[in-house]
Formats: sequence, C-alpha cells, structure tokens
Amino acid sequence: MAKLSEIGFSKGIIAETIISTYSAEGQPNAAPMGVTMQDEEHLTVDLFNTSQTYRNIKANRCAVINLTFNIEIFYRSAFKETNPNGNLPAEWFEKSQSVNAPKIRMVEASIEVLVEHLELMASRGTMKTRGTLKVESIQATCVYPQAFSRALSLTVEAILHATRVKALLSDETQQKRIAKLLEVISDCHQVVNRVAPNSSYSLVMDDLTKRIEGWRNLK
Ligand SMILES: Cc1cc2nc3c(=O)[nH]c(=O)nc-3n(C[C@H](O)[C@H](O)[C@H](O)COP(=O)(O)O)c2cc1C
Repeated sequence: MAKLSEIGFSKGIIAETIISTYSAEGQPNAAPMGVTMQDEEHLTVDLFNTSQTYRNIKANRCAVINLTFNIEIFYRSAFKETNPNGNLPAEWFEKSQSVNAPKIRMVEASIEVLVEHLELMASRGTMKTRGTLKVESIQATCVYPQAFSRALSLTVEAILHATRVKALLSDETQQKRIAKLLEVISDCHQVVNRVAPNSSYSLVMDDLTKRIEGWRNLK
C-alpha cells in the first residue's frame, strides 16, 4: 500500500481533495474538501456543519478521500446544480473496498478512512467540526508526470472563493468580504484566460462567473 507521504501529503499542509460519502439513506455524495496530514495514518478535515459531507460523515463515521487533477470533478462536486437534474451522476461512483462510502471512479488515488474523532469548533461565527480520520487503505494509480499549468490552481482557488460568496451573499454584514472575494475570482479568471484560453479551465471560469452574476441578481 502506498504511504500518504508518497502521494503528495506533507505534515501540516492542506491538500485539496474530493471527499465522497453516502447519506444516511445511501445516496452517494462528493465535495471538494481541504485535508491535512497529521502522520502517516491520520488526516484531519474541518467541515462546515451546514455541508452534506458533514451530515454523512457524522451518520456513517467513514469516507473516501479522492485525489484528482480533473477540474470538472472539483467544479461539479462543489456546485451540484451544474449537473444534469442537479445531481452528481451515479456512474461517477463505485463501492469502496473497506468502508461504507463510495469512491470516485476516474481519480488518481483514493484513501478509505474511518472517523476516529469529531470535535465541534467555532470559526468566524460559523460552526465547524474537525474530523480526525484514520487511514484504512490507499489505492493509487501509476500515471505519467503531468505538465503543470497555473490554470488548475487558479480555477480551484476561484471555485473555493465562489462557494464562500454563495454562502455569504444574503448576509448584509459580509458585503465587504464578498467584494474582496469577487475581485480575487475576477483576477483568477483573467489569468486563466491568458494562460489557458479555450480550455476546460476557461470554460469553468466562464460558467462560474455567469452563475455568480445569477446569484447576485436573485438576491
Ligand atoms: C478547493 C476547495 C476546498 C474546500 N474545502 C472545504 C473544507 O475544507 N471544508 C468545508 O466544509 N468546505 C470546503 N469547501 C466547500 C465545499 O466543497 C462546498 O461547500 C460544497 O458545496 C459542499 O458540498 P456538500 O454540501 O455536498 O458537502 C471547499 C471547496 C473547494 C472548491
């Protein structure tokens, strides 16, 4: 079995992953989540208590942490409404080997984890829960080295900020913070258009920008 330190994790560094879980009713779900390595057998994740991922992890006490460079998986799992019928496609998922959570088929690695501990904490006025996760198994594919484009991290950054914009939009006390987030998203969009024109990244950025405009008009 590969070790966390062999698939890109380092102690104390947040890795951007996709966590997949089942709901209490058995519905598969996935969402981008930042995960931090504590040691070779433990990871932590800070979950907003409003997320479906938090509810699923609380119900089933396990999850799969999927590693991918595929921007579409980040985008469509962050904003479920970008999918046909507003749901992630069932064919994305398959049963994992050792835990009661689905894994995503088209990823580079999947880490099956059990929840060891859940701890409630307050963060900037919202409730979050820190999950300590124990690694049960790791499956990793062997892939060719991938040429790095800034477009990937810029687009992931913009998607992350957009999840915050969506959550804060109706809060009148947060308008300054929202304006700052929108500025960062717009800067990311400009650079993506320059370094990766007509790409999957620029398509995501165009769609994201339109969606944000739509949320603001609905407000
Ligand atoms: C790169 C990235 C990292 C994220 N990290 C976290 C995180 O660590 N904790 C969290 O609660 N939400 C995080 N989010 C936001 C969630 O993915 C987002 O709110 C999502 O819609 C939650 O989906 P769910 O309700 O199906 O769990 C992140 C989003 C992105 C794009």
